[in-house]
Amino acid sequence: MGLDESLPRRQFMKAAVAVGGASALSACLGRAPRAGEPVPEGVSDSSELPQRQHAWNERVRGDDEGNVHLPRHQTILYLNVDADGTPRSDARETVEAALRTLDRAYERSNEGLVYSVAYSPSYFERFDDSLPDSVDLPEPRRLSGFENPEFDTQDTLLHLASDRADVVLEAEEAMFGDRSEVNGLAVADRLGDALTVDDRRTGFIGAGMPAERQTQRGEPISGIPDSLPVPEASPLFMGFEAGFAGNQATEDYVTIEAGPFAGGTTKHVANLRQRLGDWYDEQTFEERVMEMFSPSHAEQGRVEGVGANLGADSGIDAFLDSETIQQSIDEHGRVGHAQKAARANRDEDGNVRILRRHVESTDGDMASLHFPSLQRRLSTFEEVREAMNGDDLTDNPSVRQRVNNGILEYVFVQNRGNFLVPPRRYRALPTPRPA
Ligand code: HEM
Repeated sequence: MGLDESLPRRQFMKAAVAVGGASALSACLGRAPRAGEPVPEGVSDSSELPQRQHAWNERVRGDDEGNVHLPRHQTILYLNVDADGTPRSDARETVEAALRTLDRAYERSNEGLVYSVAYSPSYFERFDDSLPDSVDLPEPRRLSGFENPEFDTQDTLLHLASDRADVVLEAEEAMFGDRSEVNGLAVADRLGDALTVDDRRTGFIGAGMPAERQTQRGEPISGIPDSLPVPEASPLFMGFEAGFAGNQATEDYVTIEAGPFAGGTTKHVANLRQRLGDWYDEQTFEERVMEMFSPSHAEQGRVEGVGANLGADSGIDAFLDSETIQQSIDEHGRVGHAQKAARANRDEDGNVRILRRHVESTDGDMASLHFPSLQRRLSTFEEVREAMNGDDLTDNPSVRQRVNNGILEYVFVQNRGNFLVPPRRYRALPTPRPA
């Protein structure tokens, strides 16, 4: 796919990340000359960076309410280790040296680059030893009776994120293409010398971006109706804000506490295709609020527009108990997505258990969502997803497996993968039992 040079600047930058490659990067740099907008440099010594690769919240934009705004441009690369069997120590050294190059080149921030590298259960099968009990990392599996996803069992996941489209492109080209410098720094070691890209996925998030991207070359993308309904103010295709601070686990909470991988976390990444014709064309705004948040949110007029008025908390905790949910169903024939999923997303002290970091995508000219979720134990994600399925709520005939059951009618899981995000000290091709 070529790049349309006539696109407005913002749209052009997102299109460039989606296309990728050296020509997209040079077109992008042509539009955003470094001289005008220099990219802040990183650290000469990687040990100045946190052990937690998932420590992004303090390094990206936040708002006055305390909500975290994820970087606008993201690339998720699924990689395989080049050789069979146990990775060799020279491959490990190459990976570490390549990552140090990125650390030196770019400030670890939304203005530079935030990233993490993670490893799948299949990767750890290369070793005779198994992961310690302190790491809960099952193989990916089906998490509802009505999905049939492809399982991502590649060895490694590299997740790049920045508010600068040219940075995510340049980092990728330096690591896997033929770019010889990153932010002016010479590249000696490349991830591509030890790892091969199996799949490349791209995402974006931020007010205005989904509305702009609901068409490609003048046509609605797959999943978007002809009415082009995505509100300009929405950061997501479905028309609402998500990820309020009060509805997210803290980075502390999702961090593995014991064992060699203390300081790491587990990461589930799903891809969900969205089909939003009926979501927008057959429902009123109030009905969308009922299905996304809860019927009580609609009754009480709690959500205005895309929901920015909610501040730093969706307020869902008031509507999670089974009595309120039953009442929602009896009176409105619907149950909310947040209401249902949040039931399993609190510990006994009321803390939120998972940290969602999802972004939108137009990969394959299709509206979809890349859904990374961080949690201390991977099975916590599985429990939350089970609550989102709402199988237990279909006694009333109006709530079916997928109909009037939150947003399940409009989202279709295509991929699932599970990964361990090790602490920085073991980020390069770790063994399952590092010393
Ligand atoms: C297109 C797909 C999705 C969209 C647009 C979406 C959007 C939202 C929105 C707007 C909320 C309420 C605000 C907030 O708390 O962030 C929410 C809540 C929630 N979502 Fe999703 N979501 C999607 C898919 C998923 C999936 C696949 C899961 C996996 C389990 C999930 C889990 C949750 C949970 C647990 C909550 C409640 C947060 C809490 O505990 O308070 N969502 N979602």
